[in-house]
Amino acid sequence: MPAKKTETHKIDVQTECTPTDAKTAGPDDFKSLGAATIAHTTPVWVIATYDKTGRADAMTAAWAGIANSTPASVFVAIRPGRYTYENILERREFTVCIPSEEYATHADYFGIESGRETDKFEAAGLTPVRAGKVNAPYVAEFPMYLSCKLKDRMNLGSHFVIIGEIIDVRVQEKMLDSDGKIDLKKLKPLVYAPDSMKYFGVGDEIGQAFKIGKEFKKQKGDGEQK
Ligand SMILES: Cc1cc2nc3c(=O)[nH]c(=O)nc-3n(C[C@H](O)[C@H](O)[C@H](O)COP(=O)(O)O)c2cc1C
Repeated sequence: MPAKKTETHKIDVQTECTPTDAKTAGPDDFKSLGAATIAHTTPVWVIATYDKTGRADAMTAAWAGIANSTPASVFVAIRPGRYTYENILERREFTVCIPSEEYATHADYFGIESGRETDKFEAAGLTPVRAGKVNAPYVAEFPMYLSCKLKDRMNLGSHFVIIGEIIDVRVQEKMLDSDGKIDLKKLKPLVYAPDSMKYFGVGDEIGQAFKIGKEFKKQKGDGEQK
């Protein structure tokens, strides 16, 4: 199936820029890492699908994130050689499963073996369960998953960016705090560092988003009035 044509927007490329309010030279304490696929941090997601025979497969993806609010959507960059890519095109539905720290080894295993040759769920000793709202499995042992439908895809060269519309988000009830929000200290999601190729846990809470900046803005405003 040919990739659906994606709408493009013309961008005026500015070749030269004279900064008006930025310093033109700063302390030379930056080292260039080149045009690399390094950004901190990336998630550790496990994309689960059924193949054409109905067997469950799962692959780890770190080049992924939330893509849109309405409709709620995710993106995952997948090499077309992955069995998962074939499965997504065939079934048009998948889940994004979020492993907790205790499943780091399983997640890594899902990222080094192909479901084309192996039943990875069986080999890993994990349980595929059919998601309620899409024809795709989720990893029952992981604390959270998103049910997604293939919305679009875009060929960027080595990878296709897969856009999935989020149909439902499910999380184990014990992962919720008293306000019904997901407690990261309980969920313990993994993050991936692409340059060192290491998994990390999530650290301490730093502050409330959309609030600490607002307080800062207010303080600055107050300061300027004086
Ligand atoms: C930490 C980690 C992150 C990965 N991220 C991606 C990714 O974002 N996109 C991708 O195509 N492959 C990624 N991979 C590689 C696939 O998970 C791997 O090729 C897997 O064996 C594919 O399985 P499948 O053939 O059953 O689909 C990653 C692997 C690891 C270990």
